[in-house]
Amino acid sequence: MKIFKIAVFASGHGSNFQAIIERFHQNSQDLKLELLVSDNPSAYAITRASEAGIPAFVFNPKDFKNRKDYEELILKELLDREIDLVVLAGFMRVLSDVLVVPFYGRIINIHPSLLPSFKGVASIEEALNYGVKITGATVHFVDSGLDSGPIIAQKSVEILEGDTLESLKARIQKVEHALLTDVIQWLSEGILQLEGRKVRVLSAKRECSCGY
Ligand code: GRF
Repeated sequence: MKIFKIAVFASGHGSNFQAIIERFHQNSQDLKLELLVSDNPSAYAITRASEAGIPAFVFNPKDFKNRKDYEELILKELLDREIDLVVLAGFMRVLSDVLVVPFYGRIINIHPSLLPSFKGVASIEEALNYGVKITGATVHFVDSGLDSGPIIAQKSVEILEGDTLESLKARIQKVEHALLTDVIQWLSEGILQLEGRKVRVLSAKRECSCGY
């Protein structure tokens, strides 16, 4: 049986990484969390990797002349380890074609809004300040734009009267953890089909934890 190998990229706290660890690490025989990649040597995600026994590739972008140089190093690591899927889970950098082209269709990102609304790093705050009544989370394939690749799955979260950044973020993150791990499951089963901007889930019997 072929093992489906995953690399997670994270820059910070890593709660999505933790959700992936809890759902798949040691609970799944055909799926392996092979590597954490982090651009932040003080990211808590690195501690999570070490506690789970997952190797970490940590780099500091300041040590490199440009993005191409560190992305080429990451690409080599991914190819050496025969990674099947790259999951951007709070990785605060836009990837260039160095990584996106060889892995297109095999890199996904979790984003805390209903794309294409509220792209970028301050999406939760911007949705709150804009006054929208519904926001949510999106998992999409990654291209070399900002939060612009084909959408795989979305789940809405209602903004409640009196919500603060913290209260809204907590509800969105709970949804993110379920949505992201469901999409990883579908990808490992090979039931997603990408046609241009459209993504289809091929199996009617897909397992979902959050009702989309
Ligand atoms: C998540 O909200 C994700 O959508 C965004 O960055 C945040 C990372 O959170 N891209 P965590 O590090 O997984 O807790």
